[in-house]
Amino acid sequence: MRSLIDIIDLTVEEIDELIATANDIIANPDKYAEKCKRKKLATLFFEPSTRTRLSFEAAMLELGGSVLGFSAANNSSAAKGESVSDTVRTVGCYADIIAMRHPKEGAPMIASMRSPVPIINAGDGGHNHPTQTLADLLTIQREKGRFDHLTVGLCGDLKFGRTVHSLIHALSRYEGVQFVMISPDELKVPEYIIQELEKEGIPYTETRSLEEAMPTLDILYMTRVQRERFFNEADYIRLKDSYILTPDKLETAKKELSILHPLPRVNEISVAVDDDPRACYFKQVMNGKYIRMALILKLLEVA
Ligand code: NCD
Repeated sequence: MRSLIDIIDLTVEEIDELIATANDIIANPDKYAEKCKRKKLATLFFEPSTRTRLSFEAAMLELGGSVLGFSAANNSSAAKGESVSDTVRTVGCYADIIAMRHPKEGAPMIASMRSPVPIINAGDGGHNHPTQTLADLLTIQREKGRFDHLTVGLCGDLKFGRTVHSLIHALSRYEGVQFVMISPDELKVPEYIIQELEKEGIPYTETRSLEEAMPTLDILYMTRVQRERFFNEADYIRLKDSYILTPDKLETAKKELSILHPLPRVNEISVAVDDDPRACYFKQVMNGKYIRMALILKLLEVA
């Protein structure tokens, strides 16, 4: 039995397989409509979500399975003081697979040690978010046709943005990838990730200027400033509008740039950018459902 806690739990070959399956699901959805008949997915969300939880549920329903779960900690026995280990041992009696989001870093990992069924980390605090990365990778593959030799701009809250951390880990494994990290000083990529990049000799630069980085980028990954992880509101207010992508800022960008965002957006991308052919963030949402279908099939070992 396998869980998915960190994106590097999957080899690059396994990621290729998931992407191939997702592309096959997109081309032949009927073939998959009954694959998870009588299987159940539980979504245990101790933190708010729209896309991640509903895409997991939509994914399982499109595979012919059923879903159960809760969408807030105060709707569960966590409010009574139950541990995540006891919660998953319980839910494992009702469901075949569990997707869990939790505000505490490492909670899904702890849960996976006690769970009788596979656990999928659907976001743990400011740490990791491997299934968003799978959605990002499927989008990059469909837009660019490759993962190697890409200059990837990561912009916004690189400190608390868990999707950024998982995406760096995933893309670091491909040749010729370089990162341009664009953030205010207070929201730079955590030191442990910088050390990993240094150790592996992966090229990266850090800058405060989106304008300066723009012409070099193949991918621009915008992120929201993660209000819920700030210790004080004044810092959030000061930093929240550090970057706002508008059509004029894209004038110096490559014609083939792909603009990604895990969503939800607040102010980081003006709605005027949505009609630009380079905007991929709503395709990314759709891809998130298909790649989660592929992941559920893999972890449930459904052929
Ligand atoms: C992200 C998350 O939860 O980390 N959202 C998502 O799952 N698509 C990004 C965010 O909340 O800013």
